[in-house]
Amino acid sequence: PKDVGILALEVYFPAQYVDQEELERFDGVEAGKYTRGLGQKQMGFCAAHEDINSLCLTVVQRLVERGRLSWDAIGRLEVGTETVIDKSKAVKTVLMQLFHDSGNTDVEGIDTTNACYGGTASLFNAASWVESSAWDGRYAVVVCGDIAVYATGNARPTGGAGAIAMLVGPNAPLVLERGLRGTHMEHAYDFYKPNLSSEYPVVDGQLSIQCYLRALDRCYGVYRRKAETQWKQDGIQRPFTLDDFKYIIFHSPFCKLVQKSVGRLLLNDFLASPNPDTASGLYKGLQSFRGVKLEDTYSSKEVEKAFQAASQDIFNQKTKPSLLLSSRNGNMYTPSMYGCLASLLSQCSARDLAGSRIGAFSYGSGLAASMFSFRVSQDAAPGSPLDKLVSSLADLPARLDARKRVAPQDFAEIMKKREETHHLADHAPHGSQADLFPGTWYLTRVDSKYRREYARK
Ligand code: ACO
Repeated sequence: PKDVGILALEVYFPAQYVDQEELERFDGVEAGKYTRGLGQKQMGFCAAHEDINSLCLTVVQRLVERGRLSWDAIGRLEVGTETVIDKSKAVKTVLMQLFHDSGNTDVEGIDTTNACYGGTASLFNAASWVESSAWDGRYAVVVCGDIAVYATGNARPTGGAGAIAMLVGPNAPLVLERGLRGTHMEHAYDFYKPNLSSEYPVVDGQLSIQCYLRALDRCYGVYRRKAETQWKQDGIQRPFTLDDFKYIIFHSPFCKLVQKSVGRLLLNDFLASPNPDTASGLYKGLQSFRGVKLEDTYSSKEVEKAFQAASQDIFNQKTKPSLLLSSRNGNMYTPSMYGCLASLLSQCSARDLAGSRIGAFSYGSGLAASMFSFRVSQDAAPGSPLDKLVSSLADLPARLDARKRVAPQDFAEIMKKREETHHLADHAPHGSQADLFPGTWYLTRVDSKYRREYARK
């Protein structure tokens, strides 16, 4: 099969949010810390009767219904999530309820977990399946979903929640570029969830940022080397730079980190360039940084500021349009980077996107990270697969506007309730239908044997 990649993409986010300015006041922090400091506007959060299963049920059903797909046409479905409510039973198996009436049980795939990276691992698996001898000609569906919540304190404003489902197959408008992947994996305790009875992680925020930026450097280095090797085989000899990406999307814990990451990539280009012009242009005034080593600069404010300023235009052009969901819904964990992809598609025209390369950086604490890229198809004509994909996401801003704003006090109470009821057996979660968009699945009951039942609004 040719041009394996993403054919359709569906987004689910909760119907309620808190405003970050209001949250600053409620938390008693300095005005501007969450908004200007972290770059966040709003944060979505789940109703009391939503869980990871309901989020994924909703997004998969939406993908199939809106795409007018047949349940029989799916031969693989897998879920990337770090929202674990059962140590054995995969979310994927819960999703099999949706296939029940079709009789299709021949569906490969289970769940994959490592912090925010599980969705990317699932996407790689799904694409490999389509390219393999095991492929039976049907679609693969990749689901990423998470409820990102933190204990009260400085990490709380970097939460969020949501789910994304992607239809994967050949002749896609967003093709995964073959051979262009740079991965970095290592052992780190930057963010992890050792307390299985709590929804909250243990997090070392500053360490997690350093790990993220180090993984970015390493992945970009490997990605670039592989791209240059491919070019050499075609007789082209020149360094890969950010110019070779028309757009760049990132795992987005908070938008400020993404902006810093663009600066970081420019620093990589600058240091890799044999003879950068520091008298004019992009690198003007950066001469004094010529001798720095990447590994010595993770806590250098001076380097960060200089390269953030130098990369401002690159950020505005290549990355800012992808931050719509991140800034207004927050970090969704596994769906975060795919939310950036959806945002980019909703903010650009098919014509802008046609033929472009989109660089993608996925990071999951602990840690696992990859940089890879999508090649967008050339055909942007009305009715083309690309046009259909872009049109299907055009209503994202309106859907975000349609959410309900909840006061931080009420948000805090709902969070408290979640803490108390998380993992309770024999209970019916309280939660109102008014807190859900139409078509949303929700939890109706957990019985005495912890079996969960769901209904759809
Ligand atoms: N006005 C404007 N900016 C302000 C203000 C203000 N009044 N007050 C603070 N700031 C700025 C700070 O200068 C800082 O920006 P800078 O780093 O560019 O200088 C920013 O706001 C944040 O302030 P900090 O003091 O660094 O914030 P704190 O350490 O309290 O928390 C953190 C931030 C570490 C990100 C925390 O929210 C956290 O732990 N989040 C979860 C971990 C995370 O998301 N890690 C990222 C990768 S891993 C993952 O995806 C989970």
